[in-house]
Amino acid sequence: MDMIGLYPTWFEPGIGSGWVVGLIATAHVLFSHTSVGAAIFFAWLANYAHRHQRPELLEFIRRYGLFLLVFSYVLGSITGPGIWYSTTVASPRGISALIHSFVWMWAAEWVFFIIEVVGVYMLVYLVGKIDIKTHTRLSLIFGLTSYTTMLVIVGILSFMMWPGKAEWHQAGGVLNAFYGPNTFAQLGMRTAFMFAITAVVGGIVVGRFKDAELKNDIARKLALLGIVATLVGAAMLQWYLATLPESAEVVMENRLPDYFPVALMAVIGGTLAYFLLTWVQPRALVSAAAGVMTVVITVFGLWPEEVARESIRKPWVAGQYVYSNQVVGVDVPGMGVKSEIPKIEAHGFLKTHIFMPEHLRTVTEANRVEAGQALALTACANCHSLSATGMRPLRKYFAGSHTESEVAEYLKAALSGGNTIYMPQIPLNDEEARALAAYILTTTQPAEVKAVAIAKE
Ligand code: HEC
Repeated sequence: MDMIGLYPTWFEPGIGSGWVVGLIATAHVLFSHTSVGAAIFFAWLANYAHRHQRPELLEFIRRYGLFLLVFSYVLGSITGPGIWYSTTVASPRGISALIHSFVWMWAAEWVFFIIEVVGVYMLVYLVGKIDIKTHTRLSLIFGLTSYTTMLVIVGILSFMMWPGKAEWHQAGGVLNAFYGPNTFAQLGMRTAFMFAITAVVGGIVVGRFKDAELKNDIARKLALLGIVATLVGAAMLQWYLATLPESAEVVMENRLPDYFPVALMAVIGGTLAYFLLTWVQPRALVSAAAGVMTVVITVFGLWPEEVARESIRKPWVAGQYVYSNQVVGVDVPGMGVKSEIPKIEAHGFLKTHIFMPEHLRTVTEANRVEAGQALALTACANCHSLSATGMRPLRKYFAGSHTESEVAEYLKAALSGGNTIYMPQIPLNDEEARALAAYILTTTQPAEVKAVAIAKE
């Protein structure tokens, strides 16, 4: 029988593999956005210093550049490969889908990245050692190459949401996959917010400046950059939201917590207030406050943004053809890819998954809970935590008292036909649905028993 070439599942029991990826990605977004934003700000500032004969401003480039060498280029270079490692085990076929479409895009990105790394060293260590015109040109090259790395990555990230052009599924083609409305909207939004992050992190550097006049001058410039960036970012966010697929809208309307829009507005408002304050009182800017603000933006801005983007992409992980649980869900003639759903419908998930332990391929009285657990691990765990914590814990949907056949029926109705828009189509045959139900009920029972015990006390 034809098997499906799924990989073994990486199971992270505490928080789920998705959150591990999310945590690394959030840190990486902070480091990388800061550096790209700073690169462009440096290019502007170097030009400004050159035109206004103010070489003392280059001191900021030198100090911020030095800070970035550790903050962005060491920590960023650890978390960047961290994303590769974690996504490759969390979602091997998602990564495979991206590589099949974008291998040369990535190759190009790495070339630009190398120029960027060499560039930041030159900018920092050649201040005052080469003539200011050459230094200004270097800063331009650094800014442009940095931004190009961002463009390439954003195109690939947008493909994860959906292919740039609808005809890609039929026609294939890297440019069809890469360029679309979502690509440009996301690029615009990230560009704006990246400047806001650059301005906040820049405060950590400038807060230590002893020369009060220089400090005030640069702190004000950063504050202005931050104010404009935050306002433009809020507008870009609206544009971005308008370029999302329908499934994303459904998840956003029904599944993001109610406080989400309010919290988002609060973060944007708080960031604006912070910049206004530093603009009015640049003298008051201290590194510690900027450091706290950086943490606030990371925890309340970047983390929810990454989690929400991951959430609204459901049920797909890439190109609207690879489901988050790694099964290929539709035909993609343009790539010569065929849906695996018919195979699963014909033979069942347990029989077709190549890494399924042999003794679980057929459900028996003795192995049904174990088989159900194997199904939950391979078909659901990528999106649902199997413990009580983490991402969308599976057991929380079945907290009341249910019988096994009720749960089995419910699962079949929700999953087999593919009519739950944010979940993959997972054709479960009767035995599989009952096995899965039996397993899910073993996870909800102890909690209930505990609740009853507490109630009795
Ligand atoms: C592609 C990711 C994904 C996979 C894989 C997945 N789900 Fe879901 N599931 C979701 C999302 C998103 C929700 C929305 C609920 C939320 O956000 O809390 C959801 C909701 C549910 C619900 C709540 C009822 C509902 O319709 O909203 C149940 C029950 C459920 N999933 C069961 C399962 C089971 C069982 C499996 C494995 C056989 C599974 N899911 C696989 C993403 C997924």
